[in-house]
Amino acid sequence: MDKYLYSRGKIVYFKKGEKLITILYFSPTGNVKYLAEKLSYNLGSENTSLLPLEFTNPEHLEPGVQLVIMYSIHAFNPPRTVRRFVNKIPEGLYKNISLISVGCAESWVNKAASSGLKKKLQEKGYSILVEEIMAMPLSFIMSFPEDLIKKQILTADNKIGEIANSVLSEDASDSIIPLKSKILHGLGKAEGPAARMFGIELHAGRDCTSCGICVKNCPEKNIRFNKKNKPKFGLSCLMCMRCIYNCPEKAISPRISKFIPIKEGFNNDYEIL
Ligand SMILES: Cc1cc2nc3c(=O)[nH]c(=O)nc-3n(C[C@H](O)[C@H](O)[C@H](O)COP(=O)(O)O)c2cc1C
Ligand code: SF4
Ligand code: SF4
Repeated sequence: MDKYLYSRGKIVYFKKGEKLITILYFSPTGNVKYLAEKLSYNLGSENTSLLPLEFTNPEHLEPGVQLVIMYSIHAFNPPRTVRRFVNKIPEGLYKNISLISVGCAESWVNKAASSGLKKKLQEKGYSILVEEIMAMPLSFIMSFPEDLIKKQILTADNKIGEIANSVLSEDASDSIIPLKSKILHGLGKAEGPAARMFGIELHAGRDCTSCGICVKNCPEKNIRFNKKNKPKFGLSCLMCMRCIYNCPEKAISPRISKFIPIKEGFNNDYEIL
């Protein structure tokens, strides 16, 4: 039996084969999931549990040595689902927590994305180990050109290897957040109400077969069936695009903001690039 020491001084015993690192990922359209799976592989799948954040109850998290939270950036901020989850993580479950935010650029615009989560976790007594931004293809409005996508995937694959090394060696990263990033992070909070309005614009057209995939997978449980067994969208939308891209019949679209989803859908089968 191995033994590990918590930051709060408690000794916790782990049986051989128990998972030591938990990776929670929030990935409405698949980019973050791709990176989370790579990270798990690099850390050693036998040491790691990989959980979709939106379908995990924070109050039932198993204690472990380390927690890694990976999420896609929406308007320079973590999506509401991630913020709510972090607020509910109990104290004292892990020795440290790493935060990996994934946008479409590693630039200063996203630098403050994790700052609110970091503050909340520190208030709960957690130390933050790795805090990184990663870039993957843009998931709405327009598709990036294929050569840029290939470059982003190659860079991200290499960076995941470096992050895995930092997590395993418990090598803390520390970056200074410029004021302009903090301002953008604050302004980005206005996106929340706009995303909710996007939800009321969504509708399922005649091609809908009432399969229920959208209802089951919406991270905010914003979709229900109406009396005619057709999806009805509520006011909790994140504008995450999952229901639109995942509908097998391509039946879901916004009535007005038609430019927001990528017309031809979002293809992120990066392994074949
Ligand atoms: C509503 C919305 C807002 C976004 N805002 C940002 C942003 O502020 N900065 C950024 O770099 N990317 C932004 N993106 C792009 C996604 O963060 C990026 O494509 C990410 O890799 C998607 O990950 P996923 O496929 O796991 O959801 C936004 C995407 C959506 C849908
Ligand atoms: S995923 Fe598409 S086909 Fe299935 S219920 Fe939703 S809108 Fe209808
Ligand atoms: S309704 Fe669609 S776009 Fe809105 S949060 Fe749910 S899955 Fe995402």
